[in-house]
Amino acid sequence: MYIFKKVSDLQKHLDGLREAGKTVAFAPTMGALHNGHLSLINKANEIADVSVSSIFVNPTQFDQKEDLDKYPRTVEKDIQMLIGSECDVLLLPTPDEIYPSDVEVRNDFDFGVLDDVLEGAHRDGHFAGVGQVVNRLLEIVQPNWIVMGQKDYQQTAIIRRLLELTESKTKIVVSPTIREEDGLAMSSRNVRLEPDERKEAPTIHASLENVRAAYGSGEVEQAKKDAIAQIEASGSMKIDYFDIVHPTTLKSVTKWDEAEQLVVCTAVHLGKVRLIDNILIP
Ligand code: PAF
Repeated sequence: MYIFKKVSDLQKHLDGLREAGKTVAFAPTMGALHNGHLSLINKANEIADVSVSSIFVNPTQFDQKEDLDKYPRTVEKDIQMLIGSECDVLLLPTPDEIYPSDVEVRNDFDFGVLDDVLEGAHRDGHFAGVGQVVNRLLEIVQPNWIVMGQKDYQQTAIIRRLLELTESKTKIVVSPTIREEDGLAMSSRNVRLEPDERKEAPTIHASLENVRAAYGSGEVEQAKKDAIAQIEASGSMKIDYFDIVHPTTLKSVTKWDEAEQLVVCTAVHLGKVRLIDNILIP
């Protein structure tokens, strides 16, 4: 695996590959890698000649300084995992490479209502930061495809919109959420759960699956209430939101047949950790 710390070196390398007719798929990350990330690399290897990843803990997308400070950093281990997954190229930049003083990095994208709901309503400026860094990374890497995880469903909707707003040639590929055996969605934040919290955490996925089981019968609102009650019954989890939404507008639905597929999504505080998850139904 080639590792580049400088944007200009990475660009020179990728230009050479493109001139030789190679296609590129890009999976951006913030490190602290787990099997969910590796599935994105596998997908990139499947669809393109060259897989590129990046590890950059982007400060502009954290609304809480504590969350940024506590974000796990495991670069050496990450590099070994990427090599094991046959990632071809890694960009490992310093903040100055991503946000150099002489380059204007846009952060003024209007994501409209996509940024007002769910995560957007709870994390001020989060998606402005995500849009800013992903746009900058796309300008640097210029991939044919960007590969993102369904685990961050709203983020995939935001990036889809970003690609439209910038009239980008890059296409987005969304890869399914990878779960632990007990259903907990893999996340870099899971390592911060205390052992008793870790035992509680699969309730989040179970509550989503109970909405799937209720799909099509009874009221949407009742299925939502039951799922919320299930999470709250644990006593240790605090819900930021639990909603059943339209897959493209992300607006709450009131009827099961408002779209062919619906997204059930939630964000929950468990101890000091905030976890998100979603499933597509039916
Ligand atoms: O999903 C993430 O890890 C981050 O939001 C991303 C897309 C790498 C941007 O910093």
